[in-house]
Amino acid sequence: MRAVDVIRKKRDGGALEPNEIAWLVDAYTRGEVADYQMSAFAMAVVWRGMSMDETVALTRAMLASGRVLDFAHVPGVKVDKHSTGGVGDKISLPLVGAVAACGVKVPMMSGRGLGHTGGTLDKLESIPGFRVDLSLEEFERVLTDVGCAMIGQTADICPADKKLYALRDVTATVESIPLIAASIMSKKMAEGIDALVLDVKVGRGAFMKTRDDAEKLARTMVAIGRGFGKKVVAYLTDMSEPIGSAVGNALEAKESIQAFAGAKFTRSDLRELVVVLGGEMLRLAGAGGPDDIARVLDNGEARKKFRQLVVAQGGDGTAVDGAPVFAKAARMVRVNAEADGKVKAVDAEAIGRAAMLLGAGRRMTTDKIDPTVGITGVPLVGTVVRPGRAIALLHVNDESNLAEAEGMVKGAIEIAADPSIAFATTRILGRIEG
Ligand code: URA
Repeated sequence: MRAVDVIRKKRDGGALEPNEIAWLVDAYTRGEVADYQMSAFAMAVVWRGMSMDETVALTRAMLASGRVLDFAHVPGVKVDKHSTGGVGDKISLPLVGAVAACGVKVPMMSGRGLGHTGGTLDKLESIPGFRVDLSLEEFERVLTDVGCAMIGQTADICPADKKLYALRDVTATVESIPLIAASIMSKKMAEGIDALVLDVKVGRGAFMKTRDDAEKLARTMVAIGRGFGKKVVAYLTDMSEPIGSAVGNALEAKESIQAFAGAKFTRSDLRELVVVLGGEMLRLAGAGGPDDIARVLDNGEARKKFRQLVVAQGGDGTAVDGAPVFAKAARMVRVNAEADGKVKAVDAEAIGRAAMLLGAGRRMTTDKIDPTVGITGVPLVGTVVRPGRAIALLHVNDESNLAEAEGMVKGAIEIAADPSIAFATTRILGRIEG
């Protein structure tokens, strides 16, 4: 087989056979197909798309490029949750603690932040000592002993995806439903899970800007999961305004730990996502539902479980008790409202980009982040504001991009003199089952 023939067939709108896709991915992983050929292939897929059969074949090929974990010998049902990426999305921390406290095992493999979106691994690493680079043997030990474990994608899980994702990132070929679906699902199918809950974000702060595209992505991933014999449920959730009030790694880790203090101390949007998505994980495992998640968040059991996880992965458990162990930025700068009224919109992408300018995010996968910087006090749509009162706080170390970040945050928070603007009642836009 020749790469040029496979690329040409896709370029001309043909449907590839599973063996053609398997050959291309395998040859690329072994270095026999060049990056420039794989980039051309990815661009052809962006333009021509893929059928469901081709997308499943691509998922299988990327899965087969590496190790597939098998936790069948670890007692209990294993369930994971995956988000397609958002701003202020810190729900994995409380969710893992809560689901595991209800007796369901959670072997979670997460990603790092890229562009304006944040990543769970960066948030976890802001907890002093926390290790996300466990070996697969350590991962299994923590999963068995504690009931949950949180790590990054290791080099031997889906190496084809790792290589292809880095290429897509610099060749404007990320935004393709079959490529995103195969990328996410190959990694999830390698995790040794029985079931999966997908959080497909929709709106200004998400990859999928429209509900239509988000629904297509969700249906594609659910169908792939079914093809692998796994129970998969996808939620479409609103990502037009950030989740919670903090954006930035240590700031988000602190806010997420606050969720263990119960409903009274947690912003409603954050709490809702943890309860609904965690509840779905329990439901898929036949071990309960949203009320059980709410109960363990309120009675301290979720906190206790997450503390065990932090300690087992080398972290400072007192962080979970609320001890002031997180590193802090050098100073805080207020952003004040300039008008009277209510918050009409908070542009999640602009807030994410402002946090990135302050050093919280990466432009490229190789960039270093500053865990201490970011933004807190981000208001919900519907909040009443007064001129001269703070609408956000910037946490700053490097002052070089401060003015630009300040302007971006101001521009992101739209204020209108319209008393009818109300708080969103829910972030859940839909649920898709296989
Ligand atoms: N996350 C992934 O893991 N892959 C994609 O292609 C997009 C988001």
